[in-house]
Amino acid sequence: ESVALLKAIIDNAIDGIITIDERGIIESINPSATKLFQYTPDEVIGKNISMLMPPPDRDRHDEYIHRYQRTGVPHIIGIGREVTGLRKDGTRFPFRLGVSEVQYSGRKIYTGFIHDLSREKEAEARLVEYA
Ligand code: HEM
Repeated sequence: ESVALLKAIIDNAIDGIITIDERGIIESINPSATKLFQYTPDEVIGKNISMLMPPPDRDRHDEYIHRYQRTGVPHIIGIGREVTGLRKDGTRFPFRLGVSEVQYSGRKIYTGFIHDLSREKEAEARLVEYA
């Protein structure tokens, strides 16, 4: 039925999908996202989403969420942004981040959609090199 179908769609999505609670704690992560960041679900569920990003965002992300909850003014929700992710091995990669806000059984959840841009960025860099 529809819950199983939705799970199959998320499990097989090309883009990474991560959900966090209103404090930024990771609640779920799909296989694409675990592959991108090189962690197993066990290693990230229950941890702050900031572990998946380098400074300075890492040290500010709680405040980003808090500011949004205080002001209602989004900087990424409904807009998107190109940001930098931090893999388990310490390397970084660029991705397009989309965030949506979901009200689910009385609480707020944020869903992040992660579209890897590594290949595009590498190709772009090569073009600039040869220009
Ligand atoms: C806000 C960075 C992942 C949820 C932001 C902002 C930045 C940022 C730069 C807004 C800064 C500003 O005020 O202009 C990052 C980076 C990530 C990441 C580098 C790399 C892992 C995520 C994920 C989610 C998420 C996966 C959701 C599952 C939010 C929320 C806000 C926010 C809810 C506040 C609302 C808004 O500004 O629209 N993040 N983020 N972030 N981020 Fe993230």
